[in-house]
Amino acid sequence: MLSTLAQTSDELKRRWEKPGATSTAAHSVPQEYAWGMKAWTHREYGGPEVMRLTEAALPAPEPHEVLVRVEAVSINPVDWKIMASHEKAANFGLALPSGIANDIAGTIEEVGSSVTLWKVGDRVMTSARGRALQEYVVIDPSSVAVAHIPEQLDTAEAACVNIAARTAWDAVEGPARARAGQTLLVHGGSGAVGQFAIQFARRHGVRVVATASASRLGRVRSLGAEAVEYGGDLHEKLQSLAPINAVLDCADGEGVRVGIELGADLHRCISISVKNAHGAGGVATDLEQTAPLQHLIDMVGAGDVEVEIGARYPFARAREAYEAAIAGQHKGKIVIEVG
Ligand SMILES: NC(=O)c1ccc[n+]([C@@H]2O[C@H](COP(=O)([O-])OP(=O)(O)OC[C@H]3O[C@@H](n4cnc5c(N)ncnc54)[C@H](OP(=O)(O)O)[C@@H]3O)[C@@H](O)[C@H]2O)c1
Repeated sequence: MLSTLAQTSDELKRRWEKPGATSTAAHSVPQEYAWGMKAWTHREYGGPEVMRLTEAALPAPEPHEVLVRVEAVSINPVDWKIMASHEKAANFGLALPSGIANDIAGTIEEVGSSVTLWKVGDRVMTSARGRALQEYVVIDPSSVAVAHIPEQLDTAEAACVNIAARTAWDAVEGPARARAGQTLLVHGGSGAVGQFAIQFARRHGVRVVATASASRLGRVRSLGAEAVEYGGDLHEKLQSLAPINAVLDCADGEGVRVGIELGADLHRCISISVKNAHGAGGVATDLEQTAPLQHLIDMVGAGDVEVEIGARYPFARAREAYEAAIAGQHKGKIVIEVG
């Protein structure tokens, strides 16, 4: 093991050997895991009440892997959907007992012997599906996108860029792409994916019409969209803004229905929140290719694209963070600070 990690391991060991330094886990900790790291896990499906702060062995990287010290995790709706459903978890190759969350930002603490592109000390943002909410995680950079965090970018902001930005990018650069001067409807434009989509489309000179709740109309306007409050008769509200050329629906599928009524072809409509909404396709978010992810985080680092953080929670209060996320208590991304 490299010295940084050895020191870290010693620190962790000392911490766990301290009398009274026990886990808040409801489950007893197996003897062989008596020290290592803290990890949020769940052993049954349900809401945040199933989350347990447990102790686990410090993971060791294989020759092709790197060990990342997790510093920040951002919450995505898919996290709590996976936590609540066996079927959803199985779709992502997860089973009980499981860890939690996907989007992480942190620092590489150890590299496997065959890894050449990454080094100890690199600040990175990546995916750790079902293993994000823990102090350390092993990542295989050949099978999942890993991006350098630009020097000037806050780690918490970096943690927000992965799923939401990739999904927005794949939609707006893919089927929901509109040309300069054409109109893209983003239904649910004040959410994480919606905000990225507005900004990406505006960079192409696309006119964006975005729906949001009354209190969030100002936010979508500040990103360059024409804002419409959702609820009520959406067709009537959007009629004067027609024709709509493309749709990204991040909400209830109504954006697709109304977008088609107001001129959009079905093949240029996407819903990421309702499967097969009025015949529209979705986005299989690509979390494997590094180049697009690096491009996106570089745009954020350069200040060309904004990230809105609604709240930051300490690691020990991760369960509260999920309760707040599900309740829609904060506007903007919720970040859990680990390190
Ligand atoms: N590849 C994929 O399939 C993929 C990837 C990422 C996300 N998703 C899904 O996409 C959805 C959005 O994700 P996100 O990360 O952007 O979530 P988010 O940040 O929680 O945003 C959700 C947004 O939906 C808006 N909203 C709620 N009810 C609405 C309604 N009736 N009409 C219009 N807008 C409404 C909210 O607006 P206000 O805050 O203004 O109320 C909120 O901003 C989630 O269902 C998520 O699971 C799918």
